[in-house]
Amino acid sequence: MCGIIGYIGSKNATPIVLEGLKKLEYRGYDSAGIASIDKDKMSILKCKGRIRELSNLVKKEHLTGSVGLGHTRWATHGEPSERNAHPHVSCSGKVAVVHNGIIENYASLRTLLEDEGHKFSSDTDTEIFAHLVEKFYHGNLLKAVHEALALVEGAYAFAVMCEDEPDKIVAARFGSPLVIGIGKKGEYLIASDPIAIVAHTRQVIYLADNEVVMLQTSGYRVTDRDNVEVEKEVENITWSLDKISKDGFSHYMLKEIFEQPQTIYDAMRGRLSKEKNDIRLGGLESHLKWLNKGEKKTTGLDALIKAKRIVIIACGTSWHAGLIGEYMFENVLHIPVEVEYASEARYRNFIVDKDTTVIAISQSGETADTLAAIKEAKTRGAITLGFVNTVGSSIARETHAGVYLHAGSEIGVASTKTFTSQVCILALITLLIGKKKRIIDDKRVNTITEALFNIPQQVEKILKKTNDIREIAKRYMDFNNFLYLGRGYNFPIALEGALKLKEISYIHAEGYPAAEMKHGPIALIDKNMPVVFIATDTEDQIYQKIISNIQEVKSREGQVIAIASEGNELIEKVSDAVITVPKTEDFLTPLLTVTPLQLFAYHMALLKGHDVDKPRNLAKSVTVE
Ligand code: M6R
Repeated sequence: MCGIIGYIGSKNATPIVLEGLKKLEYRGYDSAGIASIDKDKMSILKCKGRIRELSNLVKKEHLTGSVGLGHTRWATHGEPSERNAHPHVSCSGKVAVVHNGIIENYASLRTLLEDEGHKFSSDTDTEIFAHLVEKFYHGNLLKAVHEALALVEGAYAFAVMCEDEPDKIVAARFGSPLVIGIGKKGEYLIASDPIAIVAHTRQVIYLADNEVVMLQTSGYRVTDRDNVEVEKEVENITWSLDKISKDGFSHYMLKEIFEQPQTIYDAMRGRLSKEKNDIRLGGLESHLKWLNKGEKKTTGLDALIKAKRIVIIACGTSWHAGLIGEYMFENVLHIPVEVEYASEARYRNFIVDKDTTVIAISQSGETADTLAAIKEAKTRGAITLGFVNTVGSSIARETHAGVYLHAGSEIGVASTKTFTSQVCILALITLLIGKKKRIIDDKRVNTITEALFNIPQQVEKILKKTNDIREIAKRYMDFNNFLYLGRGYNFPIALEGALKLKEISYIHAEGYPAAEMKHGPIALIDKNMPVVFIATDTEDQIYQKIISNIQEVKSREGQVIAIASEGNELIEKVSDAVITVPKTEDFLTPLLTVTPLQLFAYHMALLKGHDVDKPRNLAKSVTVE
């Protein structure tokens, strides 16, 4: 959360910084600000609200100068307001700082600085850094930043400018991403994400933890925390910026829901071959690698095939995809799997031994908890794999091997298309390992391959029901609570459906395994409690059991909305509303059942007048704890 960008060169920094901030807005959007230095004088503009508010402000004030910093904020310390928006400045107003992360010892540092006479003008943790730099500044900005960093605990990406050294930007990273862009003719950029700078350069350097960079038009210098120079590899960005537009849709979220036939196909394209009866995942090719514990092990697919146990680490929607992965791997491959919330795993003694392979699932590849848990798993000697959407992201770089989702940019804060891509990748891996280990015979591989290739057109069919789903949403929009129930592969879909409703409609919703209802939630059932059942036909007895759960709800006057298989007439009789989905293999049903629930949440949020793409209090990429 929070996006930072900096520019130094010969052009006017402001339009470049503003343009970059628009690309970073997914990281936070409660307030924004910009600082630039022109003729040795620093100017700062900031406001509560979105980048468009900041752009309006910039239009009124004429901000010039070829050195600039920008920030888009997701509040941690201090309410969203102009006062708390970055950049923050020191007492003299000469040092300006933008920050992504959390300074954990900020309270004690603030007391120390206040005792020394520093006056604070915000409630943020960030401001202490501007004062610390001021405290240590004796004509050398780089040195002052190093000395200030020595006192700071927590996670950060900082970028700092100083009026007394107007030809410099100094930036530092620990735990929050930072990338340096090397432009033409003495032009340098710094940003939280390469998407903010790729319009200006494809030559980038990814800063590692504990590194500090000083940018000047004459060049850049990267040092470690002890101010010792570090040689850095300059990398070339090979991906191109997706055309980020709504393509005629009213919201990115709707566009992304409707993109799923294509993105699911893209997750399989070049990987699954009907003709050759083959599955190939290039990113999982096995290589011998030295691990932290001094052992040599093979990574990639080999690490999955040999694993006695798999631990999946993720957050939010990606965690739900991981749960489906657990069901697939255990049911089909008989490999024991645990799915951990990254935020929990990183702080407990989660057991990872030499026979465990750890998979991180993440859309952004920047989620702080997931990244930290992966680092922890590596220090314990585990092979780590990343199933990530964002190319070149921290998790993609930190893991030993991995698979990209190829879903394209996801802008809507509520994850939709990347969820189905994650599930699709997990299905491909299940198929691949099943085939390699001869658990799934060739005939069955053929049948599943056929089913996978049918998914895009089946999703297409569900998308045509969007108006019917909107009508159902209209009927239920005044209810304040919803229960989502599912079993087996569709239990995680109950969780995901409830999460979608919560995050964009602000309606309280709970997901449960259907059979758990009788252990508590059933007490909530009355005519005011709609229950969404994911009740598709299954090859086992689960479907029959769910029908009994539906009856239990009906007999207590509950309202039932069912996601059912096409042609199922019984469900029509026992439910108040039904949305049908085509039939497929049991373990692939989540790829179909989630779509109506995404659309239901979308329409509900729209009917209630909410900002679907930028729901309150949320950010697309959660880069703080
Ligand atoms: O980028 P990641 O997949 O690691 O993000 C994890 C969660 O923050 C994310 O899925 C979040 O729950 C979404 N807003 C859900 O729609």
